Amino acid sequence: MKTSEIDLTTAYRFMYPRFTIIVSSGTLSKPNALAVAWSTPLSADPPLIGILIAEKRFSYETIKEGMCFVVNIPNYDLIEETHYVGRISGRDKPNKILEAGLTLEASNMIAAPRIKECKINLECKLVDIITTGDHEMFIGEIVDIAVDSSIRDDWSYDVTKHESIYWRQSKFSSDVYRLNVNLEDD
Ligand SMILES: Cc1cc2nc3c(=O)[nH]c(=O)nc-3n(C[C@H](O)[C@H](O)[C@H](O)COP(=O)(O)O)c2cc1C
Repeated sequence: MKTSEIDLTTAYRFMYPRFTIIVSSGTLSKPNALAVAWSTPLSADPPLIGILIAEKRFSYETIKEGMCFVVNIPNYDLIEETHYVGRISGRDKPNKILEAGLTLEASNMIAAPRIKECKINLECKLVDIITTGDHEMFIGEIVDIAVDSSIRDDWSYDVTKHESIYWRQSKFSSDVYRLNVNLEDD
């Protein structure tokens, strides 16, 4: 038997846990960052990524204003920092990144700064915004990839050295234990 009559606006919850990133924006002197669980690759060539941001977020303004953002991929040891930037708004706390215990560093190609503690940073120029509903998809073209050499492997990064995080209802998990199965892949 299957349960039905579920509030349709909770449908997205059946697609969790979700890979979670920190998106930084603004400038080194006026930075902002938020946690994002709704993100997706959109194209390999050109290299495009989509992040979904609700209009009420302060980042909605800072990304639009600066026309760029950085996708920072946190390791599992940064769950508290990720959670902090995911529940405090830069509108209320301009120093939220520092208060979260995170450090900023200059990006190579864009004004938005990178999060130093994240070993993977994808620098993006904002190329389009699509309204989807109560979120808007910010489409970024990746113009630079910075990866700490200690975690790099031939494909992208070594998952035994960097554990990406997944979030579901106030809890985080790591993906690593599921990635030890060898399957045919391209
Ligand atoms: C794990 C996690 C994932 C989140 N994912 C998103 C998301 O995909 N899109 C979004 O608009 N907000 C998301 N949020 C909420 C924002 O990160 C949160 O409201 C943040 O405080 C906004 O900061 P800002 O106002 O400084 O931009 C998420 C929060 C958490 C804790």
